[in-house]
Amino acid sequence: MTVATDDPNAATYTIQDGIAWVRFNRPDKRNCMSPNLNRRMGEILDELEYRDDFGVLVLTGEGSAWSAGMDLKEYFRETEARGLGATRQAQREAYGWWRRLRWYNKPTIAMVNGWCFGGGYGPLFACDLAIAADEAQFALSEINWGILPGGGATKVVVDLIPMRDAMYHALTGELIDGQKAAEWRLVNESVPLASLEARVRELAGILLKKNPVALKATKDAVRRVKEMTYDNAEDYLIRAQEAANSYDNDGRKEGIKQFIDDKTYKPGLGTYDISKQTA
Ligand code: COA
Repeated sequence: MTVATDDPNAATYTIQDGIAWVRFNRPDKRNCMSPNLNRRMGEILDELEYRDDFGVLVLTGEGSAWSAGMDLKEYFRETEARGLGATRQAQREAYGWWRRLRWYNKPTIAMVNGWCFGGGYGPLFACDLAIAADEAQFALSEINWGILPGGGATKVVVDLIPMRDAMYHALTGELIDGQKAAEWRLVNESVPLASLEARVRELAGILLKKNPVALKATKDAVRRVKEMTYDNAEDYLIRAQEAANSYDNDGRKEGIKQFIDDKTYKPGLGTYDISKQTA
């Protein structure tokens, strides 16, 4: 059996105007996730996370696909042929970078430019926000090749979309387009492919004006409280804000000052000027 060689460019990134553009980069293979791609994604997330030359990470795909899910040849067949240890390692590497992304230090946006299948729902869910092209196509295609939607994909649809739609989606393997994905709330919204990047830049621009410590605390809080009772959430949110204060105790004071004393903005209508924050 021929085993694929490592391609250091299976995933790539560029940083521009405060945005890290991370790309699935196997367009010839519709950006399906091989062990090599998963490893490279893990490395990129490590390299980038605490850099201060960007504030928002966008995950997108080269070519016609966002990601055609797991690589059936390299992730499944070739890995299984090497035994349980290799299978578990491949799973750790895939699930590992998705988990890193779910709790990433910066806000993240999935820019879904095309095909998005099966295992692709892992990184889709891991991104805090998701904007799709109307033309993008989504499916839980696992049922079409004879397995259940694993790698978290079943959990993703049950968490994000109503039960009847989740069940239909998982049992039929039928495609839905970006607009349907937005209607089902699998993504925030969908726009024509021609305006996708502009819309994502606009959204990133909104986030870049916010206090980064507050963004990280907020994104974690939204994911954490979902599984808590009201009382536990109330308590968690007090502790989370106090923990955030230990990293940035001046932001909220500056935010209050610019509203109450300086009268330079209204929090109900916009963001305080974080560039005036001294510490
Ligand atoms: N695993 C392995 N190889 C894949 C792949 C996957 N998930 N998705 C695409 N590829 C490969 C194809 O085998 C083909 O390889 P080749 O050029 O060596 O023959 C190449 O990528 C291009 O794919 P092709 O099917 O010719 O492209 P297309 O644009 O006509 O169709 C898809 C695109 C995404 C509809 C189709 O490739 C597909 O159904 N992929 C599988 C999707 C899937 O079920 N993923 C779930 C995995 S959990």
